[in-house]
Amino acid sequence: MSVSINENIITLNTKNTTYQMAVNENGYLAHLYYGAALNGAVAIERGKVGYHTGLPLAYDSKSRELSPDVCPLEYSAYGSGDFRTTPLKVCFADGSSVCELRFVKAEMLASKPELSGLPALHDSDNKSQTVEICLKDKILDLRVYLMYTAFEEEDVIARSVRIENHTGKDIVLESVLTTCIDNYEDEFDFIAFKGRPHFERHLSRTSLGDLKITSESKRGSSSHQDNPFVIVCSKDCTETAGDCFGSALVYSGNFTASMEKTQIGTSRFVMGIHPENFSFKLKNGQSFQAPEVIHSFSSKGFEKLSHNYHNIIRNHLFRGKYALAQRPILINNWEATYFNFTADKLLAIAKEAQRIGADTFVLDDGWFLGRKGDNSSLGDWFVDEEKLGCPLNVLISKIGELGMKFGLWFEPECISENSNLYRAHPEWVLQAPARPGMLGRKQWVLDMSNPKVVDKIFEMMSNILDNNNIEYIKWDFNRYLTDVYSTALPANRQGEVHHRYVLGVYNLLERINKNYPNVLIEGCASGGGRFDCGMLYYSPQFWASDNTDPMDRLAIQYGTSFCYPVISMGSHVTASPNHVTKRATPIKTRSNVAMAGTFGFELDLTTLTGADIETLCSETEFYKRNSELIRLGDYYRLTNDSSRHIAWQFVSKDKSQALAVLVQKTTRVNYKPIIQKFRGLDSNAKYCVTIDGEKCEQLYSGTALMEVGLGIRTIKYESESTRIEFQKV
Ligand code: DGJ
Repeated sequence: MSVSINENIITLNTKNTTYQMAVNENGYLAHLYYGAALNGAVAIERGKVGYHTGLPLAYDSKSRELSPDVCPLEYSAYGSGDFRTTPLKVCFADGSSVCELRFVKAEMLASKPELSGLPALHDSDNKSQTVEICLKDKILDLRVYLMYTAFEEEDVIARSVRIENHTGKDIVLESVLTTCIDNYEDEFDFIAFKGRPHFERHLSRTSLGDLKITSESKRGSSSHQDNPFVIVCSKDCTETAGDCFGSALVYSGNFTASMEKTQIGTSRFVMGIHPENFSFKLKNGQSFQAPEVIHSFSSKGFEKLSHNYHNIIRNHLFRGKYALAQRPILINNWEATYFNFTADKLLAIAKEAQRIGADTFVLDDGWFLGRKGDNSSLGDWFVDEEKLGCPLNVLISKIGELGMKFGLWFEPECISENSNLYRAHPEWVLQAPARPGMLGRKQWVLDMSNPKVVDKIFEMMSNILDNNNIEYIKWDFNRYLTDVYSTALPANRQGEVHHRYVLGVYNLLERINKNYPNVLIEGCASGGGRFDCGMLYYSPQFWASDNTDPMDRLAIQYGTSFCYPVISMGSHVTASPNHVTKRATPIKTRSNVAMAGTFGFELDLTTLTGADIETLCSETEFYKRNSELIRLGDYYRLTNDSSRHIAWQFVSKDKSQALAVLVQKTTRVNYKPIIQKFRGLDSNAKYCVTIDGEKCEQLYSGTALMEVGLGIRTIKYESESTRIEFQKV
């Protein structure tokens, strides 16, 4: 049994981990433990750290020393003696914010329910177990339902919270974080994935010390700057050893994740929707569903933690036809033409792409009414036949004659001032009364919290999808939210706009998913500005960054890989010198780095030399042969992002096949040669090793490859790369 309710102890077990809670004598739900499997033991001693003599606070005299201020609580509310970050803050009808949550009941659910309007892990193979725990305010009938699902194989605990108002009056929620974990320990490092446009998800590791550390976004989207995935780990944690637990919020809007050390040397972790600019009114009988957090724990370092996330995302977050299937190898025209194209030019690129083995042509920004640059037309989702030189379906059928599928770019959430949609509905823009509204990339954001706006955009997108044979959408979003005000909501409910915006986006994505099951959506937000588990539920791949320089992509893809599987990372071979960095790199390195992602092309192929075209032909063939290994195998980071060379490896689940890639970051002058050790192989097996297509004469044992390593002589100078294949004999 992965979940058990035994008297006052609730335990969730996965293959290698245990999560445990207990109802204490005050009726609080105490957090006992999250860590390596306890195999039936009970961590009851940990619940007792809540007994405190230094100025304890208590409502009744009999438990005067059990203080909510230091008690390890599973979920707590503001106003009743817990001075750490409290996940819940409620304003009741009388204006008071005092709330004290006590345990009511815990029950097993028959299956994991969907979360209303929100993405969440699904239990497609019916193997998980779910428990729902009800807490209630001591005085008023405000109920908090905590839901936990144990995914045994993947070592994952998914957690969410629903608030129900039965107080008989209106209430306002001012903070509803999803998760709260009180640890007995406090000597932790906190890892966040920081960045900016063109430099997303760079790993940043900080010691908790005595302070509070936060990773957050208040930009309306999960953002380039922070990512809603963080790791808390022991100070000695490495790739292959040490304790670490991860938390990924399945949400694409404002978020916060923080860790604080308490006065008595314990620590609290919380994560959820950012409480700033958030409030939500609930009438009597209404409920509020907060998004899910995916937790996982590993006592074997980051590598195992990442494998858990890759497995759960592939098997229980992705949905639909493309969940685990081979993804299209596409040619996208953005870096080839930007806004300057005609159907003839696109067709010429498509012909070359077909020669090198691409199977899908994606027409990026610029195909709709009057769109010649980035200052007009967003919101007018009608084909600009004059610019193209023909109807869209004529271009699509010509591309179809090449044996290729067709994809199209949309930016459904944004609008240009110079657009028919804006002229007809200026009130559909997020804009505060009597203020001009701030432009971002010369555009405004549509009020996706307004269902009428969502309906209109769906109608326009459907019109295009119904009348053209389109099998892929690139869903872009090129700015952050400012002027967050909706004309569809009254003045006292403007705190709901941020969250309702995200719900509106999810609603539109879900309608496209349901109505067009053959269409693969790739998410994008000025590169990787909304790369999160919320978006991946609807769009199982996301453009990782607009920085396509392979040398910069090394750190971006390295950081991204801690949570997100390679199959989700949009990555293309682009021109050299690179458009963003002006750096020149060998074509093989561009291809090797793109292969640690969805692989595709984004350059004007008509300008390449015959030799480069031939290289790309064989690279595509190589990718196709190894696509299953790359997509579904286990991913190993063989170096960290500050090494002289960066290396990674894919190993098939049965360990019969593996592929490693090494990229030289800085030239090795008079420095020791690389001896690269590999991981994840079968130590008892013998492997045939091929380096850049040259088969080694001798066979190597798994042990030799993992413990001694291979001397690598195929790279020396900056940005060279090499590929090593392993085949079990
Ligand atoms: C930003 C995206 O990241 C690019 O790939 C491209 O689609 C442009 N937007 C188009 O405007």
